[in-house]
Amino acid sequence: MDILVVGSGGREHAIVHKLNQSIRAGKIYASPGNAGIAELAECLPYKATDIDAIVEAAKNLNIDLVFVAPDDPLALGMVDRLNEAGIRAFGPNKKAARLEGSKVFSKGLMKKYNIPTAAYQTFDNSKDAIKYIKTINYPIFIKADGLAVGKGAISADNYDEAVTAINTIMEDKVFGNSGNNIVIEEFMTGTEVTILAFTDGNVVVPMVSSQDHKQVYDNDEGPNTGGMGAFSPSRIYTPELAELCMETIFKPTINAMNKENSTFKGVIYFQLMITPDGPKVIEYNARFGDPEAQVVLPRLKTDLIDIIDAVIDGKLADINIEWHDNAAACVVMASGGYPVKYETGFEINLIENNEDLIIYHAGTKINESGKLVTNGGRVLCVTALAEDLKTALSKSYNAVSQINFKNAHYRKDIGINAIGKK
Ligand code: AMP
Ligand code: GLY
Repeated sequence: MDILVVGSGGREHAIVHKLNQSIRAGKIYASPGNAGIAELAECLPYKATDIDAIVEAAKNLNIDLVFVAPDDPLALGMVDRLNEAGIRAFGPNKKAARLEGSKVFSKGLMKKYNIPTAAYQTFDNSKDAIKYIKTINYPIFIKADGLAVGKGAISADNYDEAVTAINTIMEDKVFGNSGNNIVIEEFMTGTEVTILAFTDGNVVVPMVSSQDHKQVYDNDEGPNTGGMGAFSPSRIYTPELAELCMETIFKPTINAMNKENSTFKGVIYFQLMITPDGPKVIEYNARFGDPEAQVVLPRLKTDLIDIIDAVIDGKLADINIEWHDNAAACVVMASGGYPVKYETGFEINLIENNEDLIIYHAGTKINESGKLVTNGGRVLCVTALAEDLKTALSKSYNAVSQINFKNAHYRKDIGINAIGKK
C-alpha cells in the first residue's frame, strides 16, 4: 500500500517511522517532510495546506492512503477533498475537525452534552467582552475561537491584562480571523494529561497516556510553545481515572459529534486537566499531538495500518490494539529564541539511533552543501524507550548531551515531577 503523509514535523516523522515498520507499507511519501523523514520516505515539495497540489499528487502517484496529520489542512477540509477525488484518507472531515478548529463550537458541544470543562462565555465583539470582564473573578483564560498555532490562549490575572488580551485578539487581530470570536473561561488548577484516542465514530479507543511540557523554559516559565518535551505513561492517569474519563468525556464526545451530524473518524486529542473536582477538558485537537505522538507511537505494538483501515471502515471494535509495557521520554531540542524569534541554517551534529533511541526530526533540512542544518523552531525530538520512565529520561538526556548545533535550547526538567524528584 502506497501512503502519503501530509506534514513536516516530529509528529509526522513518528508517523512515517511507525508506518515504515508495517509489512503492509509499500512506498511512503511525505509532503513537505524534513531531512529525517526523507530517509524513510520520498518528500514532495507541496505545503501541508496546499490542498489542490496534494490531491493532484495523490491522484498522479496512485496513492492508496493519505494520512493528514496537521490541524490546518484538516480544518480546511483536505480529507473531504481527497474523498471527493476517490482517495482514501485518514483524519476527520471538515465538519468534524471543528472540534479543534472552533473553540466556540467545541465549548458549545461540551455545554450542550454535559461534558466537564471550564465555565465560559463567548463574545463576537470586544465591547461586550470588556463589559463582562468587569464583573468576574480572576485569573481567567481568553482564547481566540480559531486555530492560532498553539498561541491563541492567553491567561489574564486582572482586568488590565484581560483588556490587553481582548484587544490583541479582537482589535489588533494578531491571529487574523481566528480572533473574530473569543471564549473567556474560568482558570482551572490541576495536572494536565494528554489522551490521544482512535475513533471510527462508533467506538473510541484511548491510546497510552502522556504528558506534554508547553512552556519554553524550566519550571514552566516563559511563553507557550508547541511542546518542549513529553513522556508516556502519565503516572497520575490511573485505571480508575481512565474509566471515569471514558464514561464522562470520551464516549459522550463521540456520541455528541454523531448527534451533531459531525461523526469524527481519526484521532481525537483530549487535553485534560485533572482538577480537584475531577477530570475536565481543556481543549480538543483533531489529530495526534506533537510531541505526544513521539512518545505514544513508539509504544504501539499493533500494525498502525490495520488501525487506520479499521477507523476509516468503521470497524475499530473488531481489532485489539496492543501496547508495549514500557515508558518513553522525548526531549525537544529547539532553536534558541523559539517560539519568538530564532535563526536557522546551523549545522547539526547528530548521533546514530539505536534500538531504544529514536531521534525524530522536526525542523531540519539538507542544505546546498549536503549538510544537515536547522530549519525551524523545534529542531529535533530526542526520544528514548526503557522499562521505566526514569531510565528513558536519562537515556534521552544522555543522547541530547551528545548532539549539538549552534544556539540549541532544551528544557532540563522534562518528566522530573513525574519521577518524583524536583
Ligand atoms: P490551549 O491553547 O487551549 O490548549 O491552551 C494552552 C495552555 O493553556 C494549556 O495547555 C493549558 O496549560 C493552559 N490553559 C488553557 N485553558 C486553561 C484553563 N481554562 N485553565 C487553566 N489552564 C488553561
Ligand atoms: N503538544 C500540543 C499539541 O500538539 O497541540
